[in-house]
Amino acid sequence: MKIAVLTGGGDCPGLNAVLRAIVRKATINGDTVLGIRDGWMGAISGNVVELGIDQVRGILPRGGTILGSTGVSPATVAENLSTIVKVLSDNQVDVLIVIGGEGTLGGAHLLEAAGVKVVGVPKTIDNDLEGTDYTFGFDTAVNVATEAIDRLHTTAESHHRTLVVEVMGRNTGWIALHAGVAGGANGICIPEQPFDLDVVQGWVESRFAKSYAPVIVVAERAIPADPDLLEQHGTHDEFGSRYIPNIGQWMTSALEQRTGHPSRNTVLGHVQRGGTPSAFDRELATRFGLAAVDAVTNKSWGQMVALRSTQIITVPLTEAIGSLKRVPSDRYAEVALLFG
Ligand code: F6P
Repeated sequence: MKIAVLTGGGDCPGLNAVLRAIVRKATINGDTVLGIRDGWMGAISGNVVELGIDQVRGILPRGGTILGSTGVSPATVAENLSTIVKVLSDNQVDVLIVIGGEGTLGGAHLLEAAGVKVVGVPKTIDNDLEGTDYTFGFDTAVNVATEAIDRLHTTAESHHRTLVVEVMGRNTGWIALHAGVAGGANGICIPEQPFDLDVVQGWVESRFAKSYAPVIVVAERAIPADPDLLEQHGTHDEFGSRYIPNIGQWMTSALEQRTGHPSRNTVLGHVQRGGTPSAFDRELATRFGLAAVDAVTNKSWGQMVALRSTQIITVPLTEAIGSLKRVPSDRYAEVALLFG
């Protein structure tokens, strides 16, 4: 069997661990593996390389993806469907393993509908994919953000400042929630729970009243509950949703103005998804890679490997691309008790 594999969307710690596991298990099974470079772009242009044991040696702890990646929408895959099918057939590919988030797996679903044998592997630091309890990359991002929050506490207290930390997560607040709780943040704002600026101000003031300095974690797409604020300071994203760009800086200025305490903003950005994966992510990514090859052997076309509790299972690709996994309100409420 000839298996092709691609990594699509934003890079994510653990991608190389998946590739290594796929190549090693496929080799044991007597299968061969081709790597498609730069996600769907390589599938369109025919940029394909052989992936053997030599190519994956030593990559387990390496961040990024040795194949390269691009964010290509399902619409672009749809427009280039026949080209991709031809590239796969010209390279005698029997099965395509697609490692990606919602958008990349959406493209995989389109190819499956066009008759290509496809298996999916979920990937995102945002942990916002339905169908799996966790995606690899998330734990690493949470650890990076937690370490930053730990460090910010001491400088906040030395200078009696409010420190606002903006973290990634796109339209969900999983990174903010997990890192904020792990780092003992004094307030967490996530997209799923629009914030009341008076309440955030209250967290900051109550923290200062106890002779401590506050650290507030803000997810990049957290929004105010007040529609006037959103209207006045917001803009639209490509899907028409309203948000405030640079929300961390915006909140820092608002809190400084309201409380009179000096405030500083830290935007963690891509440092959350660069560099070596955590042990948890290496292990999960390895199990996903091994299970993806099992899914090929079992002819589980149109399925995605997933973590359910401690077991690796397969679920239909459609489970991951229908809707986002958002932070439930009770998960937020249970920790919000500690804010302030
Ligand atoms: O989906 C992963 C992610 O890192 C998000 O958390 C973030 O919003 C986005 O990608 C950033 O994308 P880019 O690297 O294209 O700026």
